[in-house]
Amino acid sequence: MEDQIRSLGERAHAELGAAADEAALEAWRVEHLGRKGALAALMTRLGAVPKEERPRLGALANEVKAGLQAAFDARIAALEAERRRAAEAAERVDVTLPGAPPNPGRLHLTTQTLRRICTIFHGMGFEIFESPEVESDSYNFELLNMPRHHPARDMWDTFYVNDTTLLRTHTSPGQIHAMKGRAPEPIRVVLPGRVFRYEAVSARSEFMFYQVEGIAVGRNVTMAQLKWLLESFASQMYGGKRRLRLRGSYFPFTEPSVEVDMDCILCGGKGCRICKGTGWLEIAGAGMIHPNVLENGGYDPAVFTGFAFGMGPERIAMQVHGIDDIRYFYSNDLRFLAQFSAEV
Ligand code: FA5
Repeated sequence: MEDQIRSLGERAHAELGAAADEAALEAWRVEHLGRKGALAALMTRLGAVPKEERPRLGALANEVKAGLQAAFDARIAALEAERRRAAEAAERVDVTLPGAPPNPGRLHLTTQTLRRICTIFHGMGFEIFESPEVESDSYNFELLNMPRHHPARDMWDTFYVNDTTLLRTHTSPGQIHAMKGRAPEPIRVVLPGRVFRYEAVSARSEFMFYQVEGIAVGRNVTMAQLKWLLESFASQMYGGKRRLRLRGSYFPFTEPSVEVDMDCILCGGKGCRICKGTGWLEIAGAGMIHPNVLENGGYDPAVFTGFAFGMGPERIAMQVHGIDDIRYFYSNDLRFLAQFSAEV
């Protein structure tokens, strides 16, 4: 019995030395010090040894048990101390390390482009005017010379909120807001803003994008002034002296209506990959404000004339920076966005 007690103690000490983590230590404790452990089992057999041997063997068993308990406590304490040391080391601040540079963020490419466009027009005497993104059918269509069931409404696939309310499909309803606020004073305003179209997304088209609308209304506003204005804008926006051409088109709210093309910034008009061999890049839709629209805005079309234009800032940014897919703009990929520093 004495040998059994001693060898049990030796084996338990050896196994304790090999237990590497808390789980192993707990398993060891249950096996050797637990109520159903090996030592406890031996101690229950003490009753069977001769009476005069019992006190000595009992004392021995208690001594072995106390030794094991002390060794176990020491291991647990060492483990705890080791964990504390590691936590302190992780928290320690190395004051000699260089600081992490702060990431200040930057303006989104669309914001940069909008600001640049607005700054250019502001420099030419235009005010900035904002109008709502959620519009009435009346402002988005009817007051722009498109009564209900007018076929030209199909030019803009529309997100309707209900029968009479929609997400504006273009910034042109802002023309009416701007005119109504000012008529019969002459006005020159640009209207930057977000527009929405229920259309398939592709490399050239988003369902949510921006436009910048511009209008000028006065007594002698002409198409020639529109051409001069946009030519001057194009030279400032794209650099160099730019040439424009006006191509006949159709919008219900302008008459006559045109698409405005600019000589290609890459090839200067010879024809290349960017302009698809035509030598021209489309930069805006425009025209002379239709008399019905002038009237809806509060101006007498017998006295006043006006021009209007609408351009897409993302498409302009794509031309300026050589971006071949509009979907990069709003997919929030910093690898794309971080390439455009925040000038303006
Ligand atoms: C219009 O929206 C007219 N309101 C513009 C206008 C204003 C004409 C005033 C006459 C007078 P259009 O649908 O062509 O026209 O859009 C104008 C510009 O928005 C386009 O030249 C293009 O640059 C941009 N654009 C149109 N659709 C998309 C789209 N899905 N994604 C990105 N840009 C677009």
